[in-house]
Amino acid sequence: MYRYTDFDRQFVRARAAQFRDQLRRHRDGELSDDELRPLRVQNGWYIQRHAPMLRIAVPYGEIASRQLRMLARIAREHDLRDAGTPQERGGYGHFTTRHNLQFNWIPLAEAADVMDKLAEVDMHGIQTSGNCIRNITTDAFAGFAPDEEVDPRPYAEILRQWSTLHPEFAFLPRKFKIAIFGAAEDRAASGWHDIGLQLHRNEAGEVGFRVWAGGGMGRTPIVATLMADFVPWAQVLVYIEAIVRVYNLHGRRDNAFKARIKILVKAEGQRFVDRVNAEFAALLESDLMAGAHIIPQAELDRVAACFPNAPPLPALPPEPLPADTPLAYRRWLERNVHAHRFPGYRAVTLSLKRVGQAPGDATAAQMEAAADLADRFSLGELRVSHDQNLLLPWVPQTALRALWEQARAHGFATPNIGLLTDMITCPGGDVCALANARSLPVAAAITERFDDLDRLYDIGDIDLHISGCINSCGHHHSGHIGILGVDKDGSEWYQVTVGGADGSVLSGPAATGRIVGPAFAADEVPEVVEALIELYRRERAPGEHFVDLVRRLDARTLRQATDAARQHTAHPQPA
Ligand code: HEM
Ligand code: SF4
Repeated sequence: MYRYTDFDRQFVRARAAQFRDQLRRHRDGELSDDELRPLRVQNGWYIQRHAPMLRIAVPYGEIASRQLRMLARIAREHDLRDAGTPQERGGYGHFTTRHNLQFNWIPLAEAADVMDKLAEVDMHGIQTSGNCIRNITTDAFAGFAPDEEVDPRPYAEILRQWSTLHPEFAFLPRKFKIAIFGAAEDRAASGWHDIGLQLHRNEAGEVGFRVWAGGGMGRTPIVATLMADFVPWAQVLVYIEAIVRVYNLHGRRDNAFKARIKILVKAEGQRFVDRVNAEFAALLESDLMAGAHIIPQAELDRVAACFPNAPPLPALPPEPLPADTPLAYRRWLERNVHAHRFPGYRAVTLSLKRVGQAPGDATAAQMEAAADLADRFSLGELRVSHDQNLLLPWVPQTALRALWEQARAHGFATPNIGLLTDMITCPGGDVCALANARSLPVAAAITERFDDLDRLYDIGDIDLHISGCINSCGHHHSGHIGILGVDKDGSEWYQVTVGGADGSVLSGPAATGRIVGPAFAADEVPEVVEALIELYRRERAPGEHFVDLVRRLDARTLRQATDAARQHTAHPQPA
């Protein structure tokens, strides 16, 4: 994994010290709440429903066991529920879809100590919030995926360095998110990003980027537009600089709901592409800019060398499993263990989805257990996945059985990766001040309802995504089944969509789901999911996936099935 330099360390520690001083001045009345706000936001601190929320960056999803142990320590020592709050929660972190970890219960008075602790292990919350270029996300399988053409991590690191504290892009019209991948499968949901980048090789074997811009969810879901099929890798900063410049200049600052780049790209169409290409050409011609932004081969090599590979292992021939191998282990091998580019290795997902656990949450004890597993089985390295799980990237094939035993003991071995209960969920109304409804109880009810593995395996691959409001943090628009919390007359209701996609080999390009009817009450939601699944089991053609079926069925058939679920609980719709 990436080796931090002395510069990285000094920078993060200096930032923690600055923030301590800003917090002190706020406490002493020298800075007002309003004056502190931009300063705390630039370090990842929001104020939420019950307490501040801290978002910590896990650049390109790589995390070392010592870093995870520090997060566990912070969860234990600082993420404590204030006496008197109604929630029986605290002492845990929430892994997000964009390589971040969020804490929800840390008092602001302890923020400076937390930032110092993070800095001790080279972590921070810089640019995890605010209208700047956010933490760059990539493929959790980067560097070892068998379908990878080019490893995106060195480029993601160069982009991180370029975008961190970039003075021109610190106050964009709105937040700006970049995802980068270099494989056949897009495991970074790049079509839903402000900029999506795919590394690939042209016919001459040269490495370059396919570039999309203007993807985003929220109240106006828009899939990103292809801007260029091949930008030579050395010029990628220039091309991105051109896109962000055009956005910075022409993006709407008069209306927060129309401020994301997706609105500009949609409104301007080809004019936007032409403007970016003109800016790109001008930058390339300007000695000053091109000189500063063309990536030299030596710099790419230097950064790439900061991502050393695992030591080589002998390749093992496939060995049939003995007849008495437990079914649970076979299933785990099928769903949670992934092929690897390096002989003798496998990648293993530690599932954070099971009955009794909020999707993506990890308690302090779980983080410590995952860190121990990483030390024992994966050279001390873990990845955070887009699907809110942890991944061990470097597991020797010979250690799989031992890892399974230990992962199971810690509740990480639910063999459900890619299945219905491996869902994406935002924290919703339990902690988020913007929520219209709670996400977690709905997620819990569905997880309980579909706890039968035989049934889950029969249903097969399916993406279920839940957001507590239209901001879409739980990516409901792109779920094969999407669930969105809505407010009706002050109570919580849920709108259901089907047929969306993150963009993958299985479900095709990124797509927005379609609504199946009026919203449902909370206790109807598991019934609706059940009804859709039963419809699928009845109507599927041999080998057909859930997402393909719901796309081909007409609105009336879908509506009939889900309305039957509504009648099952007989909730009157509010006026
Ligand atoms: C509780 C704290 C959170 C707050 C206050 C919050 C707030 C927001 C807001 C306001 C937006 C909409 C931005 C816009 O359209 O301009 C947004 C988008 C987003 N959030 Fe969150 N969020 C939170 C937690 C999370 C979590 C836990 C995740 C991941 C599970 C997440 C992932 C995302 C993503 C991926 C988007 C982008 C959707 C898009 O492109 O439009 N957020 N968030
Ligand atoms: S989708 Fe809404 S409820 Fe969920 S975390 Fe985002 S802002 Fe909060």
